[in-house]
Order: sequence, then C-alpha cells, then structure tokens
Amino acid sequence: MSVTIKSAREIELMRAAGKILAKVHENLAKELKEGMTTLEIDRLGEEIIRSYGCTPSFKNYNGYPASVCVSVNDEVVHGIPSKKRRIREGDVVSFDIGVNYKGYHSDAARTHGVGEISEEARLLIERTRQSFFEGIKYAREGNHLHDISNAIAAYAESFGYGVVRDLVGHGIGTRLHEDPQIPNYAQKSRGLRLRPGMTLAIEPMINLGRFEVEWKSDNWTVVTQDGSISAHYENTVLITSGEPEILTLTTAELQ
Ligand code: MF3
Ligand code: CO
Repeated sequence: MSVTIKSAREIELMRAAGKILAKVHENLAKELKEGMTTLEIDRLGEEIIRSYGCTPSFKNYNGYPASVCVSVNDEVVHGIPSKKRRIREGDVVSFDIGVNYKGYHSDAARTHGVGEISEEARLLIERTRQSFFEGIKYAREGNHLHDISNAIAAYAESFGYGVVRDLVGHGIGTRLHEDPQIPNYAQKSRGLRLRPGMTLAIEPMINLGRFEVEWKSDNWTVVTQDGSISAHYENTVLITSGEPEILTLTTAELQ
C-alpha cells in the first residue's frame, strides 16, 4: 500500500479543486427539478465543471460514460445518466462528482430529495450526512483510519440502516483513487495511522433497508438488493496536525 502525503503546494491545489467542486454541487443542486432527465443533469454538470477550468474526473474513468453519477432511489452509486430516466417528485437523488483541477482531483457526493419526500427518506439523507461528521471526529493525526469507519458504522446502524460494504472511500490526489481504502462498516483491525498531508475521500453509502447491494446489467449502477432507498454523502478531507479540513463543503454547509 502506498499512501501519498501531499506537499504544501499540492495541498493548495487540492484546496482549490475542493472549492470548485463545492461550487459545482451548489450550482447543480439548484437545477434539480422534477421532469428533467438524468442525462440533462449530467450535461449541465459537465458544463459547470468546465466553466471553472476543470475536467470531469469520472468521464471515461474505467469506461464510465458520464461526468456526474446520478443515482435515484434504490440506486446506491454510479447511476448512468440517461435520457430515458426522468426525475419525479418524491425521488431521492444522489449526485457524485469529481473534478480535476491542474492535475489534482476532488470528489464529493450529495443526496437531495425532489419536492415532497417521505419522512423516512428525509431522515435517511440527514443521518447519512451526519454519519460522515461522526466519522470525521476521528480524522486526526495519530488516530487510526478504522476509527473513522467504526464511528460511521455505529451511528448509521443505531437507526437500523444497512451500511454498504462492497464499496469504500479512498485516498485521492493526482489519482482519483489512491490508497488507502476507507470502509464505512465496522472493522476489527485498526488500519493505518493518520498523518498530516493525507487527503481522503470519505463516503458513507447508507441503505434504508439491508446492506447488500448488486450491480445492474450495465455493470456500473449499484442498487440495493432489497429495493430500499439509499443515500450517499462524500467529501474530500485533508488530515492536518489539528482539526481535519473538509475541502468540499458548500457555502451553506460552512455557515
Ligand atoms: N465517488 C466515486 C468513487 O470514488 C465515483 C467514481 S465513479 C467513476 O468511486 F465513474 F469514476 F468510477
Ligand atoms: Co469517491
């Protein structure tokens, strides 16, 4: 395993990549409306990414065909935008986006409800977000990586939710996916020790029902096996000698 420690110059670039991605999420979230197709969301997202002088990290990554992963309801992650998929009131829609700024990637996901959503959906979205913040409390120099995983899992499971195990967070930098892998479910081992200069994409994926997922025949879209809805919340985080720096928070989240 090779975990990269970013230099001061690289940290500046990661910060810039993170700030832009937060803006992309803000701008794209405003456009989300019932009646639009998931392909329209992707087109808009790509336009916004390029307007900031970035390229979409996901496009053509291992053959992924779009710039924004749009995952609706029982789709957990990696939904492929399509002109046939129309957003409807009550949908739970996750946007997962990566941008490449001057060779440095940032990666973040948000889940939105469209119009009036069920109370259980609203709570799932809110608690998935909170599970990230429970995990981040442990994202400090000297702690172990799996302290983060265990805190995310304990919080999410306290509501009876299923914590996805087949997909994990990851280190990030000049490559979208770097070591280490960052599980969201409980771990027996302690994992590596956190050091200043590590940049990590921490991304709980939480199901209303059971944790098991499967891949659809497009080989990308991950869905819950039991058909329950799922939420995703992800940020790119810098480990420092003090508080962790969350590089992809939106303006609203910073307040
Ligand atoms: N946030 C996801 C991840 O870290 C996005 C990857 S989608 C892909 O794995 F298309 F780029 F694979
Ligand atoms: Co990621």
